[in-house]
Amino acid sequence: MAEYHVAQKVEAITVGSKLCRSEIIQEYQEWVKDGKYDQDMATLGFAGPSLTADYIATYFPNNKDDVFILDVAAGTGKVGIELLRRGFSQIDALDPCSAMLNAAKERQIYRDYISAEVNGSELDIPDGTYDAITCVGGIADGHLPAESVTEMLRLIKNGGIIVLTGNAGVWRELPEYSVKMAAIIKGLEKSGKLCVIKEEISDNYRFSMEKARTQGITIVMKKL
Ligand SMILES: C[S@@+](CC[C@H](N)C(=O)[O-])C[C@H]1O[C@@H](n2cnc3c(N)ncnc32)[C@H](O)[C@@H]1O
Repeated sequence: MAEYHVAQKVEAITVGSKLCRSEIIQEYQEWVKDGKYDQDMATLGFAGPSLTADYIATYFPNNKDDVFILDVAAGTGKVGIELLRRGFSQIDALDPCSAMLNAAKERQIYRDYISAEVNGSELDIPDGTYDAITCVGGIADGHLPAESVTEMLRLIKNGGIIVLTGNAGVWRELPEYSVKMAAIIKGLEKSGKLCVIKEEISDNYRFSMEKARTQGITIVMKKL
């Protein structure tokens, strides 16, 4: 049942999706009802949040209470929970889906809950507010546009880290999106604004039960 449901959802919201961004947000709005999104993720053994929090813990091993983190596409707060487990406490959530964000709010995971979408234009957040940005499950067509890397870069301090984790299968199946984002990252790297510290494929991302879509891709960037 979960397999069928999740496969359908992944199809509806990413690969082959005919939905625009607001319709995709609506899909999440429905999915989260009655704890369904969290139940499905538990069934899948979704490990994107813990993988991502591990990267943050690697780059910020000390003084974790002083590390200001923005969790973009925060959803119901899974990344926040993993960051709290690793000792971080100053974490804000940003997500345009009110029902997902409300689920996180009920659990009192984050310091602040920002109801907004990253869509390429400037967010109402000052330059260099954060030490790190996490984004799990947001780098996909119809979610964060490829151009959003530039805006996320604006939000972090020099020396700050961005960790983007997504479904590697979907990344491969949507070259239009991934090639565009990779080109933007390369351009920012060439102009000396960031460096890619790591780009890694993990076998246990598991945002799908389909074999071709269980791997994750993580891109770690540092602002120069
Ligand atoms: C697959 S869920 C991942 C949620 C959470 N990070 C997790 O690991 O469970 C994707 C999330 O991206 C959010 N989202 C979609 N488009 C977005 C955008 N343009 N900016 C920010 N968040 C977006 C959705 O509302 C949804 O909560």
